[in-house]
Amino acid sequence: MYKILLLPGDGIGPEVVAQARKVLACLVQEHELAVELEEAQVGGSAYALYRDPLPDETLKLARSADAVMLGAVGGPQFDHLDRELRPEKGLLRLRAELDLFANLRPAIMYPALDSASSLKPEHVTGLDILIIRELTGGIYFGEPRGIRTLEGDIRQGFNTLVYSEDEIARIAHIAFRTAQKRNHRLCSVDKANVLEVSELWRDVVGTVHQGYPDVSLSHMYVDNAAMQLVKDPNQFDVVLTDNMFGDILSDIAAMLTGSIGMLPSASLNEKDQGMYEPVHGSAPDIAGKDRANPLATILSVAMMLRYSLNESRLAGLVEQAVHQVIAQGYRTADIVQSGQQPVGTEKMGNAVIHALLQVSHNN
Ligand code: IPM
Ligand code: MG
Repeated sequence: MYKILLLPGDGIGPEVVAQARKVLACLVQEHELAVELEEAQVGGSAYALYRDPLPDETLKLARSADAVMLGAVGGPQFDHLDRELRPEKGLLRLRAELDLFANLRPAIMYPALDSASSLKPEHVTGLDILIIRELTGGIYFGEPRGIRTLEGDIRQGFNTLVYSEDEIARIAHIAFRTAQKRNHRLCSVDKANVLEVSELWRDVVGTVHQGYPDVSLSHMYVDNAAMQLVKDPNQFDVVLTDNMFGDILSDIAAMLTGSIGMLPSASLNEKDQGMYEPVHGSAPDIAGKDRANPLATILSVAMMLRYSLNESRLAGLVEQAVHQVIAQGYRTADIVQSGQQPVGTEKMGNAVIHALLQVSHNN
């Protein structure tokens, strides 16, 4: 029996997680998936109840779960809070406390959606890249950090970019192993022409490469990588990078597919415990309006099945169901094209369930 903790969070989080819950319930019914669901608060909704974006109770449940499914956190009503109390801090602490150092962010182009991309279709047709972002180190967590006052009353902000070689090696191993399961090509992105941290990064990735001779490794500076991503994204297969570069490059990759509402992610630790979440944010402007696209969250369920629950077959079925609803022309407002009538969150969720029942019976 696998334990799954649902953390709907803020904004559109609860609406999209509700659809993921339906998908899980369907798999329990149809495929005897052995899962037990729990639910807790994180982010702004946790702050509102407990004055803490990651209450102890939530952290305890997350630690004992096999997988965590998170909706989204954040909202303008929380932006004035102290940094420690902000919704984003709840998410960052969850990543750190569970040691979720490996963040997998696939960017896949769905054939029917290539006109939604900000690039011309010929540059993005068939796009299938995977960004692997180190998630618990680097400048996001480095100490010292803060804002101090210098002589003459001048304020100075400072953060620390730091990686130790073991932190680099463990994410590099994940990246090489993942590349082995794909097209055997890995591009490591850094800023080794300027930063010592990147020089070490390049060195360690090169050493780890010796254990994976079947993977071809290249290195690229991050500014060039940003340019190449919008010039010829299909040159990439797996991209490995640090926490901050990964934050930025994964948003670029998301836009290439034209549909941030379609992209799932997985954050894993050494024990394959994982947190799964859509790449998009809490979208407060459309929260509670039945307008959010639930497919990124549903595809995150597929990643959870594959990486934490050892159910690749069921993961494949969920992905097939999503392909089917897209092929059938179901579109939420974010991916609608001219001449199409958008459906709401709930209807899209129901369409996936319907497709899932169909593909289940055909397989
Ligand atoms: C992401 C987000 C987060 C990050 C924020 C919400 C803290 O942008 O997951 O990419 O910067 O990691
Ligand atoms: Mg980001």
